[in-house]
Amino acid sequence: MNTPPFRSHLMQQFYSAAKNQSRPPLVLASTFRSKTGNDEGSTRRVHHHRASTTSSPMLSSLNALEVSHSLSSSSRSFREASSEAKSASNNDATQQHHVYEPSISAQSLQQMISSRRTVSNFLHHPPTSLPVEGGIQCQQILSNAIRRAVECASTAPNHKMSEPTTFHRIFSPSAASERLLDISYEVTYQRLLLNKLSGVEACRNEAMRKREKWSKIPAFIVATVGGMEDQYNEEEEQSPYAELPLNAPHTIQQLEGYASSCASIQNLLLSLHSEGIASKWATGTIIRTHALRNLIGCKKDDMVVGLIMVGWTKQVPRMPRRRRVLEGDVLKDVNI
Ligand SMILES: Cc1cc2nc3c(=O)[nH]c(=O)nc-3n(C[C@H](O)[C@H](O)[C@H](O)COP(=O)(O)O)c2cc1C
Repeated sequence: MNTPPFRSHLMQQFYSAAKNQSRPPLVLASTFRSKTGNDEGSTRRVHHHRASTTSSPMLSSLNALEVSHSLSSSSRSFREASSEAKSASNNDATQQHHVYEPSISAQSLQQMISSRRTVSNFLHHPPTSLPVEGGIQCQQILSNAIRRAVECASTAPNHKMSEPTTFHRIFSPSAASERLLDISYEVTYQRLLLNKLSGVEACRNEAMRKREKWSKIPAFIVATVGGMEDQYNEEEEQSPYAELPLNAPHTIQQLEGYASSCASIQNLLLSLHSEGIASKWATGTIIRTHALRNLIGCKKDDMVVGLIMVGWTKQVPRMPRRRRVLEGDVLKDVNI
C-alpha cells in the first residue's frame, strides 16, 4: 500500500492531493523522490535550488508542521541508517554500500532554510485574507510569531554566554512606526540632497515614495548588540538624520558579540519564514543615525546590527543567482 509518510492527518491530505499534480509542491518534492527510490532525486542540491515564485504561507506552515511533528525522528533515522549500513557490510562485503540519507524531517528543515528569501514588497495581511477583516487579528498573529522568532533567536550560539542581542519591536500603525517612517523620509531626503544627484523636489518625491513603501510594512524589529565601541562622539554636533561614522567591533569579544548577533538574526528570519512570514534584514544609513538610536533608546555602546522588516508578501522573489559552485569552491576538502 502507498502510505503517506506523515502521521499528521493534515499532512496526509495535503500529500494525497499533491501526489496527483504534474509538478508536486517543492516542499514535498524530496518526499516523492525518496518514495520512488530515485537515488539521484534524493541527493539534494539545496544550494542550486531556485525558489518558487509564488508565496506560500500555507506550504510554509505545513512544512513547519511537518518539521515540528517529526524532528524527533531524525536522530532515530540516523541510528537506523548507521546500523543498517553496519549489518550490510558485515553480511556481505561485496554488497552495495548503504548511503546515509537525511530523514524527511531533516530534508524539510533544510528545504525550509534554503527557501527563505529577502522580501521587499510587504502586505499588512496574508495574501489570502482581506485587508480590513483581519487587521487586529493579523497584528496578534505577527506579535506571537515575532515572540517565537525572538525565542529562537536567543538560542543562537554566543561565546561565554554573553547573550549580547536585544530586539526592539515596532508595530505599524503606531506612534513609534510613524516616527520611524518620518526618520526614513528625513534620512533618505538628506542623503539624496547630499549626493546632489537631483533637485530638491525630486529628492522630496523619492523620499516620500520610500516612506509610502515602508508604511506597507506591518512590523519592524531593530536588533542591537551591546558592549561595542561607543557609537558616537558627544562633542560632534550632527543632524539626527546624518550618518554617524562607523565604529566597528575592535576586540575579539566585540567581534564574537557581533557574530552571535548575526546568527540570532538569521534564526529570527528562519523562524518567521517557517510560519509563512516574510522579512528583510536591512543595514541602510538609517541604522547609523541618532534619530533611530533615540527612537529605540540605545545606550552609547549599543550597535544597531539590523533593521528587520516583517510582514506578508504576495510574491516571494526568486533566489538571487549564486555565482559560486558548491563542490570545490564553497566547500573545499583540506587534504595534506
Ligand atoms: C547583513 C545584511 C545586510 C543587508 N542589508 C540590506 C539592505 O540594506 N537592503 C536590502 O535591500 N537588502 C539587504 N540585505 C539582504 C540581501 O540583499 C539579501 O540577503 C541578498 O540579496 C540575498 O537574497 P536572499 O536573502 O533572498 O537570499 C542584507 C543582508 C544581510 C545579510
